[in-house]
Amino acid sequence: MIITQPSASPLEQASVAPLLTVSGLTKHFTVRSGLLGTAAKVRAVDGVSFDVRPGETVGLVGESGCGKTTTGRMLVGLLDPTAGKITYQGQDVTHRRSKKVRQDVQIIFQDPYSSLNPRHTVGKIISMPLLVNGVNPPGGVKKRVQELLELVGLNPEHYNRFPHEFSGGQRQRIGIARALALRPKLIIADEPVSALDVSIQAQVINLLRDLQREMGLAFVFIAHDLSIVRHFCQRIGVMYLGKLVEIGSREQIYGQPAHPYTKALLSAVPDASRIGQSAGRIRLEGDVPTPLNPPSGCRFRTRCWKAQDVCAVQEPPLTLKNNGAFAACHFPEEGVLIPQAA
Ligand SMILES: Nc1ncnc2c1ncn2[C@@H]1O[C@H](COP(=O)(O)OP(=O)(O)OP(=O)(O)O)[C@@H](O)[C@H]1O
Ligand code: SF4
Ligand SMILES: [Mg+2]
Repeated sequence: MIITQPSASPLEQASVAPLLTVSGLTKHFTVRSGLLGTAAKVRAVDGVSFDVRPGETVGLVGESGCGKTTTGRMLVGLLDPTAGKITYQGQDVTHRRSKKVRQDVQIIFQDPYSSLNPRHTVGKIISMPLLVNGVNPPGGVKKRVQELLELVGLNPEHYNRFPHEFSGGQRQRIGIARALALRPKLIIADEPVSALDVSIQAQVINLLRDLQREMGLAFVFIAHDLSIVRHFCQRIGVMYLGKLVEIGSREQIYGQPAHPYTKALLSAVPDASRIGQSAGRIRLEGDVPTPLNPPSGCRFRTRCWKAQDVCAVQEPPLTLKNNGAFAACHFPEEGVLIPQAA
């Protein structure tokens, strides 16, 4: 089932074809478990559907282990899906992608320390995608790399330095320059600031936002919580245990969340104090269940304060809710609209 999500305006929605469409995307890892080493399936991602339009920023949020990285790696072609379909500009790229599509879709990794080869100079790291893809930019590779360094706010003269000579924030800028080398149209940013000091996080987010505006880049921005994506993403998808449980515009998700899990995540965000006034802080009980044996019906039911019998037997489909977002819940929140700061 392909679920077309509403974008900022209905006009936009009707006129802009998606850049990337994901339908029923699934990844099950086979692992050996127990004393006998029997094979078991980790249901890391289980039937996720959404799309990304050109120049759009889509956030994917959820607690650790809910399948965000696995989804991101499938989107960029680093992992082969078990089931489902990925379409890029109308072309099926689920299991194989052309050189052009590989160039168009790039990734920024979470850890700027392990994702850069310590033995390579910055120049070599950033020029690698150009060399591997046989791209010879006007003026030469070195000139292009120096332009990229400048673009991400680094000194072009530091071309011959090694990663250890840079701070964490600067290293992440190197990772961003590398992702931009092939002039992509879509960047999957997997928690690009979570390994950085809080004081540096805003600088890197602002850089990404400037680049997004200047270059018309689309982003899938992966984050643990809703506070980071708030000012960066136009649309936000909330994941829980391999499922997308709610997806909608920023206004819908922050102003009137429909899924109880979204509401709980929001109530934990410090700047969502208004939610606290209307609902009180929601403390989720217990741990996230294992994706080796997820709960029947709604996967959130073991921690949901609204769960009823039907939640254990019927998996709620992702359907349009009163807030205008799509959510997977039999008893969605119907809360009052929370006014959003401009
Ligand atoms: N190669 C693998 N083999 C087996 N299980 C895996 C593999 N990769 C991921 N998993 C499992 O799949 C689930 C989803 O993992 P994933 O890394 O996608 O989550 P995440 O949302 O990115 O978490 P985090 O916020 O901690 O980065 C987890 O239970 C994880 O242990
Ligand atoms: S379907 Fe039931 S258990 Fe799941 S989130 Fe909704 S109310 Fe809670
Ligand atoms: Mg991850």
